[in-house]
Amino acid sequence: MSEEKNDRLESSNGDVSRRQFLKGLGGGIAVTGVLATATETETEAHPAPEPASASAVQRLRGKVRVRLNINGQEMTALVEPRTTLLNTLRDHLDLTGAKKVCDRGSCGCCTVLVNDKPVYSCMMLAVDAQGKKITTVEGLGTPEKMSPVQEAFVEHDALMCGFCTPGFVVSCTALLQKNRNPSLEDVKKACSGNVCRCGTYPHIFEAALAAAKKMRGA
Ligand code: FES
Ligand code: FES
Repeated sequence: MSEEKNDRLESSNGDVSRRQFLKGLGGGIAVTGVLATATETETEAHPAPEPASASAVQRLRGKVRVRLNINGQEMTALVEPRTTLLNTLRDHLDLTGAKKVCDRGSCGCCTVLVNDKPVYSCMMLAVDAQGKKITTVEGLGTPEKMSPVQEAFVEHDALMCGFCTPGFVVSCTALLQKNRNPSLEDVKKACSGNVCRCGTYPHIFEAALAAAKKMRGA
């Protein structure tokens, strides 16, 4: 059977024939071309902005720009509204000090200070952290100029694998900002939301007490 006949048979069954469809499409393309030309002429004086590529549109869809005050600096990131503060820090702002271990609020490795209070950053949305003062372990000191707590952790060998360490340092810092003369019990309580799988607790507690002593100038 010839293609034309085949097309006609399809058409007589109530379907649009391929030939008719292609003809219609050709007409449509021609019309679109004319319209496009007309539009271009009409807007010559005000050129339209470059159209975003399909992938760029896909990427931007549903994202929001968050503005965060981190370690004294204003930072922005384009994230999905469901993005946690932890993922924003690590994946968008290159601040990888806070560690992602359980990602469900049970280990404390992701602890940061939010308005000077220790918070699990994996349990907070980045959009909710806007307008707050965020301090990560990077904001406490640098390898060249460590904070008293960081220094004490090194001096007291308070880490093994180190995954829990940023969280403990931040929790101890939060305690010492409020209480320069903590008891061992105070330190244990302040660290109760942090887990160390390597079991370095005794050294961590010693380090916190030593840092407090140093901060008191005793
Ligand atoms: S990674 Fe946030 S509590 Fe474990
Ligand atoms: S030093 Fe390894 S988990 Fe604490």
